[in-house]
Amino acid sequence: MDFCLTEEQKMVQEMARGFAEKELKPRAAEIDVTRLYPLPVLKAMAELGLMGMLIPAEYGGSEAGMLSYSLAMTEIGKACASTAVTMSVTNMVAEVIHTFGNEEARRAHIPKICDGRYAGGAFALTEATAGSDPASMKSSAKLDGDQYILNGSKIFITSAEHAGVFVVWAKTDKDVGTKGISAFLVGKGHPGFVVGRSEDKMGQRGSCTNEIVIENCRLPRGSLLGQEGEGFKIAMVALDGGRIGIGSMAVGIGLAAIEYAAEYAKNRIQFGKPIASFQAIQWMIADSFTELEAARLLVLRAAYLREKGQHFTREASMGKLLATETANRVCYKALQILGGYGYVKDYPLERYCRDCRVTTIYEGTSEIQRMVIAREILGQEFV
Ligand code: CAA
Repeated sequence: MDFCLTEEQKMVQEMARGFAEKELKPRAAEIDVTRLYPLPVLKAMAELGLMGMLIPAEYGGSEAGMLSYSLAMTEIGKACASTAVTMSVTNMVAEVIHTFGNEEARRAHIPKICDGRYAGGAFALTEATAGSDPASMKSSAKLDGDQYILNGSKIFITSAEHAGVFVVWAKTDKDVGTKGISAFLVGKGHPGFVVGRSEDKMGQRGSCTNEIVIENCRLPRGSLLGQEGEGFKIAMVALDGGRIGIGSMAVGIGLAAIEYAAEYAKNRIQFGKPIASFQAIQWMIADSFTELEAARLLVLRAAYLREKGQHFTREASMGKLLATETANRVCYKALQILGGYGYVKDYPLERYCRDCRVTTIYEGTSEIQRMVIAREILGQEFV
């Protein structure tokens, strides 16, 4: 057992930290207020190799591996959660195309994701009546000669406004449950594929989240990812990896909050001494760092298993569950340490709390993570 990072992993972590502190942290508050995401930042991140971290060099990726990806996500999440979720979904989409796309699709899209010609990718699974239960989706895809015709709609699609490419799920057979779901690639601006209204969200406000209306959207047969009916598994495999990304980001947000609060506690004088001298504050800080470190280790263990090619579904869900729930608790404790200052927008604590909130919701709610973990432990017969 070795808890040490390799030289390469340390380099990636330091590079991501340096970029995040210089380019993201100073802008995060403004991005939150204006909701105007500075797209050149994404391009710069791509140039640093942060958008194709799990992709081989021959397609333009940085081949950094899952552990380095997790470390980088934590650093980016610490500075700006809106940027982190964009990075997370983009890496996930690149990987889906690499794993399940044909060679033409790989060559057409992956290099553009990796070098930033695309301002990210989007993962269009969720529908208004199919959130935790994507198998109940209504969008359909029908083969017509050499083309699929897609109809339906999606909601809550991260980065849809800017993304250069979308992975979209639809039913090719509505009578066979999850085995009737297929996944397709759709390029930005494709006729019949319309990105709609952007949600006015509580947090991560710099990351756009849109609805999509799909009307008689004709796609060449080659847009299919994997085989017909394989779409649900493609989504599940992608989400296993994605959950490591979200857990890593949540650790970053939690660390940002508690590190800020610890510094504040050293300088805030009440009753004639810094509040860091009071045991109540010390315990909040000690518990927060301890719990975040435990969560970080669990997320990294999932990343490690994944990197070794071992089964990691359970660990990814455990990592996401623990990291996102812990980070939310930590953000609230950190806000408490700042008292009234934590509650006003001149300080970043209220933003950390808002940004962190969604991490227990997207890429599977905490309740879904518990369902996945229980099924992995108890076996499918108890499903
Ligand atoms: N890997 C591979 N295959 C898997 C799998 C996994 N992790 N999980 C399930 N499968 C397979 C099963 O083995 C089964 O295959 P067979 O039929 O061949 O046996 C098939 O998929 C169906 O599995 P289930 O019966 O378990 O499916 P279910 O309908 O009961 O759902 C679920 C399982 C885990 C609850 C799933 O619905 C789920 O993950 N829900 C949450 C959805 C989610 O996370 N959405 C996130 C949206 S994207 C997002 O948030 C991105 C963003 O914007 C940030």
